[in-house]
Amino acid sequence: MTDPSFPRKRSCTLSMFTIWIILGFWTRTTMVSATTVEERISAILDHLRTSQQTEAADRDVPFVSLCFAQSLDGKLAMFAEEESSSFTVTSSIKQTTSNLAISGASSLLLTHALRSSHEGILVGGRTMSTDNPRLSNRLWNSDRSQPRTIVLDPFLRHLRMLGEGRKARNIIVCCSDKVELPEHSHHDVTFLPCRTCYDGSLDLVDVLINLRRHHGIKSVMVEGGPTLLGRFMEAQLFDAAYITIAPVLFGPGLGISLTERFSLAGNEICYHKFDNDFCLVASRRK
Ligand SMILES: NC(=O)c1ccc[n+]([C@@H]2O[C@H](COP(=O)([O-])OP(=O)(O)OC[C@H]3O[C@@H](n4cnc5c(N)ncnc54)[C@H](OP(=O)(O)O)[C@@H]3O)[C@@H](O)[C@H]2O)c1
Repeated sequence: MTDPSFPRKRSCTLSMFTIWIILGFWTRTTMVSATTVEERISAILDHLRTSQQTEAADRDVPFVSLCFAQSLDGKLAMFAEEESSSFTVTSSIKQTTSNLAISGASSLLLTHALRSSHEGILVGGRTMSTDNPRLSNRLWNSDRSQPRTIVLDPFLRHLRMLGEGRKARNIIVCCSDKVELPEHSHHDVTFLPCRTCYDGSLDLVDVLINLRRHHGIKSVMVEGGPTLLGRFMEAQLFDAAYITIAPVLFGPGLGISLTERFSLAGNEICYHKFDNDFCLVASRRK
C-alpha cells in the first residue's frame, strides 16, 4: 500500500524548493538592478585598468580605446542646414551639426569616467573645429590630473579656424611632417609632426608611436568623429571600444556602419544599460 501522505509531502517539498529558487532568483536580479550607475561604471573602469596594465606595458604604442555615441540608425552627427552653417571646412564635405546631445546623463558620466582613465583624448580636426570641445573630465573624480587633448590636424587648418576661441587647453596637435610650423605659436600648443599617407591624412600608427615616444602617453581614448573612428576600426587599431547606442533616429548624417567597420568576431562583447541607452563594451580578443 502506498503512503497517501507521500505525494503531499513531495509536493510540499517541491513548492518549498520552487519558492527558494524564485526567492534566490528575485534577490539576485534585484541586487543586479539595484547596482548604482556609479558602481557599474567603477566595474567597467576596473576591467579597463586591468587590460591597460596587461596589454600596454611593454608596447611602443599606447593602449587605444574608442568611445562614441550613435543613434539607432548608426549616426554620430547630423548634417547641418546649408543656410545655418557658419563655415564650411572643405567644400566637398557637408558641414555637420556640433555638440549634438545623443545619449543620456549616465552615458555622459561614463564618458567622463573613461576620460579619467586615459592619458590622452584624441579627436579628428573636424570635431575640434566644429564642436570646439573641452574634452576634460569634469564629472568623475575631476580633481585628478586631466588627460591631454590630442588633435589630428595635418595642415593646421582646424587650429587656425578656432583661433583664440579654442576651449581645449594644453593640446598636442599632430600635424604633417611636411607642414611649416608657425613661428609664434600659443604657449599651450605642442606640435607633433607625423608621417602622412598618400591622401594627406596622418599615418595613425606613426601618430601613436610618436605620442608614446615623445610624450610618454600610454593610453589614448579616441572620441571621434566618425571619419577618424572609422579609420581606427578599419585598421583594427584599438584594444577596447565603448559604443553608446541611444534610442533616437537621425536620418541623414555622418555615421559608422558597425556591421561593415566593426568586427564583433574579434571581440569579447558585453552590454550595459544606462538610462535609455545601451552601451556596448568590446575588448579585443588576443
Ligand atoms: N557622436 C559622437 O560621439 C561624436 C563624437 C565626436 C564628434 N562627433 C561629430 O562628428 C562630426 C565631425 O566628424 P568628421 O567625421 O566630419 O571629422 P573628424 O573625424 O572629427 O575629423 C576628420 C579630420 O581629421 C584629420 N585627420 C588627420 N589624419 C586623419 C586620419 N588618419 N583619419 C581620419 N582623419 C584624419 C583630417 O583633417 P583635414 O580636414 O585637415 O584633412 C580629417 O578631415 C562633428 O559634427 C561632431 O559633432 C560626434
